[in-house]
Amino acid sequence: MTSPLHTPLCDLLGSRYPIVQTGMGWVATPELTAAASNAGAFGFLAAATIPPDQVGPAIERTQRLTDRPFGVNFLMDAPGADVISEAVIAHGVRAAGYNRAPDPSLIQRLKAAGVVCIPTCGAVKHAVKAEKLGADAIIVQGAEGGGHTGSVPTSLLVSQCADAVRVPILAAGGFRDGRGLVAALALGAKGVAMGTRFVLTRESPVPDATAQRFVAAGVDDVIVSTVLDGMPQRMIRNELIDELERKGPLARLWLSFRNAMELRRATGASIPDLLRSGLAMRRHERMSRSQMLMAANAPILARRAMQDGDPAGGYLPSGTVTGVIDDRPSCAELVARIVEEAETTLKNLANGAR
Ligand SMILES: Cc1cc2nc3c(=O)[nH]c(=O)nc-3n(C[C@H](O)[C@H](O)[C@H](O)COP(=O)(O)O)c2cc1C
Repeated sequence: MTSPLHTPLCDLLGSRYPIVQTGMGWVATPELTAAASNAGAFGFLAAATIPPDQVGPAIERTQRLTDRPFGVNFLMDAPGADVISEAVIAHGVRAAGYNRAPDPSLIQRLKAAGVVCIPTCGAVKHAVKAEKLGADAIIVQGAEGGGHTGSVPTSLLVSQCADAVRVPILAAGGFRDGRGLVAALALGAKGVAMGTRFVLTRESPVPDATAQRFVAAGVDDVIVSTVLDGMPQRMIRNELIDELERKGPLARLWLSFRNAMELRRATGASIPDLLRSGLAMRRHERMSRSQMLMAANAPILARRAMQDGDPAGGYLPSGTVTGVIDDRPSCAELVARIVEEAETTLKNLANGAR
């Protein structure tokens, strides 16, 4: 008998288990991605925070660390999305992950080359549109999820999306263990996608000072704020967010300008590139002008916390689930634990045991 944990997603992705490690800027490095895939999950390398011409070498590094399939996550409306897509195709990467502003021509190009296309959506209407544009599977992220997030709780959104689309969906937002995986399957998903849980693994590059903030945070410390770029983002409340909430619009605008210049240096994008990307985001997401100007805040301030180890002065994107996580296992330990707990839970359910 085949295991209920062997779902169509395992076949689509070539992974042993229906567990995905999501693309997280500054966090989903070649080391974390390879460790997740080696553990039997499916890792996504985060390319949105790498200069586009460095994505090819980062893929090669990941390929040196694992012979298992993995994906690359990037922003389709950002400068260099075409360069990243070509690197994905040229290196035979299994899957491409993307979210806002899907580009139909890039999706067609990726699909024609056999790349599995997996967008992340936070609303039913976006999932329906994503399927029409050619998604092979969809990560459905509920309100509990870290980073940019919607307002519908995971438990409601997953079942709604499972009813609304035919492609397999992965439930995201609030998952960390085997009981969660079984619950996601019961809701109609074919697997789970986890960000925050993988932030707190041994192979995650996050410095100890920042990891300790994640571990110390309670559920109530994880908030949704629009202060960074005008869009709702889930994060751990810290000194920076308190200060930004006190600051006036002019001070925030000055911060945005400085961060846009820093993003330009970090990604190698030119000013016209950034403007084009900002205008595309504005068109697709119905952003205001000030939201567009603030778009660089999140990646630059996240780097300060997640890479440079300054948890007070940077942005700490996190799902609510961090409030109930208090350890930092290796990816192999984590995946084995989730699978074992899911199998036990399924057995107990079948036997009527608690
Ligand atoms: C530290 C961190 C960084 C993230 N960075 C990105 C990113 O760069 N691009 C993206 O599409 N999603 C990003 N996300 C969202 C995750 O990919 C994922 O959808 C989300 O974390 C799932 O919810 P969970 O945290 O409850 O597992 C980030 C999340 C976290 C926690």
